[in-house]
Amino acid sequence: MTLNSFFIVLDGVDGSGTTTHSQLLASFLEYKGFKVHLTREPSKSEIGILLRKYLKNKEIPPTTDALLFAADRDLHYHNEIKKKLDEEYIVISDRYIESSIIYQSLQADRITIEWIKKLNKFVGLPDLTIILDIDPKIALARKTDQDLEKFEDTTFLDKVRDLYLSRAKQEGYYVINSNEIIEFVQEKIQNIVLEKLGIIKK
Ligand code: TMP
Repeated sequence: MTLNSFFIVLDGVDGSGTTTHSQLLASFLEYKGFKVHLTREPSKSEIGILLRKYLKNKEIPPTTDALLFAADRDLHYHNEIKKKLDEEYIVISDRYIESSIIYQSLQADRITIEWIKKLNKFVGLPDLTIILDIDPKIALARKTDQDLEKFEDTTFLDKVRDLYLSRAKQEGYYVINSNEIIEFVQEKIQNIVLEKLGIIKK
């Protein structure tokens, strides 16, 4: 992090609104006059495109998922995020390492959080992580069966949600209830970000 750069991650269970809120936050910060780079994971790299395909394929071993998400992130961080931070942008990523820690470690007992952290140890960590929280039953209610990706199953997502909440406590991440009207949730996110940006500019 340089004086003006700042790396924000919005993460959370499927359907919690990380994409919508990342976009709204980016527009808000641009309007405030900041240089903003909005990005997401899986990224737009060829590995990211492959991962999007694999989200529809239940035959992929969870270890393969973990390795590919880590490779995508390594490329994403070194070729995109770090460059933008060096140019003093605020970078907002819709999902990052926390998604791998949670989703991949819950896919198989042999995948430990320590192993995921090791795979991801050469990328930079966010300055601010905000977890959006919602009951998966509410989040998935709007989707049809054909739309569903492999992790979008309420039994699995209940475990995902619990692990997000316990890790947030452990790591000191902000948690925002995303089951409120969008404007209200976004305002809470903006207030946290402005407070953090105010601190680094002092
Ligand atoms: P989304 O773009 O709709 O949020 O979907 C991305 C899906 O990929 C979501 O189910 C979470 C999953 N995912 C992982 O399992 N591991 C990861 O490291 C990342 C970035 C996403």
